[in-house]
Amino acid sequence: MYTIETIDELRQYIKNVRQSGKTIGYVATMGYLHEGHLSLVQAARAQSDIVVVSIFVNPLQFGPNEDYEDYPRDLKKDQQLLENSGCDVLFAPSVSEMYPREMATFVELPELSNKLCGRTRPIHFRGVATVVCKLLNIVQPDAAYFGQKDGQQVAVIRRMVDDLNLPVRIVSVPIVREADGLAKSSRNIYLTEAERPHATVLYRALRAAADEIVAGDRSVEAIIQRMADTISAEPGVRLDYAEMVDTATLQRPDTIEGDLMLAVAAFIGRARLIDNIPMQVE
Ligand code: PAJ
Repeated sequence: MYTIETIDELRQYIKNVRQSGKTIGYVATMGYLHEGHLSLVQAARAQSDIVVVSIFVNPLQFGPNEDYEDYPRDLKKDQQLLENSGCDVLFAPSVSEMYPREMATFVELPELSNKLCGRTRPIHFRGVATVVCKLLNIVQPDAAYFGQKDGQQVAVIRRMVDDLNLPVRIVSVPIVREADGLAKSSRNIYLTEAERPHATVLYRALRAAADEIVAGDRSVEAIIQRMADTISAEPGVRLDYAEMVDTATLQRPDTIEGDLMLAVAAFIGRARLIDNIPMQVE
């Protein structure tokens, strides 16, 4: 596996790959990799000749009071994990390589960005859309793989790619969980030993709601309220939101049908955790 740090060098590599007619699968990450990230690498590996992974902790998507400085980083370990997962190239640019001067151009999707996580993280999705647009232009992959873990991020990226006619196929990959249901996340390390058992309440609330829908419950508001109540009742857990939304528009549906996503977020100690269950209802 090569590690490439500059855009010029990566472009040269990509040009050579393209000339040989090979396909490129791409996974964007902020590093501190776990099995969730690696499942994206596996999906890319299965469907592409060359797999490119990027590690870049993107300052643009962190709010002023968020954890940019503290965000966990371990490049050596990540390189080892990627090497063992069949990654061909790790692109690990510096902040000054990605942002040599202050950006004057941003990609904004206000309607999709001000809902769910956007209510507590107002500039987050502008930062995500802008950096992903840049990264897709740099890597120029045939397909890019994103985790369903960040369901709103998938909606934002799909819509951006569609609106801007970016020539890439977006693939979403199911959430990888711990044995007790907690969605794997680089931020789970913020949980103390005492907090950790309570973190399963997100998945428990989602699972109960999904089971209710499968059993025929069609009351949108009541199902949302029960998810909220379950999370709020958990000791040490502060609810951010519980919602049911259309997967693409992120709007709350009038009736329970089509492609929906049950989505929750909560604060536990230092950590803000998110989780969701996508559902297809006939
Ligand atoms: P990061 O949080 O590092 O996640 C990188 C990718 O891994 C995302 O597509 C995310 O959804 C996926 N992922 C994380 N945990 C997962 C899990 N438990 N199961 C499945 N997939 C999981 O998301 C970002 O970075 C950034 O916003 C980025 C897209 C790189 C732009 O900066």
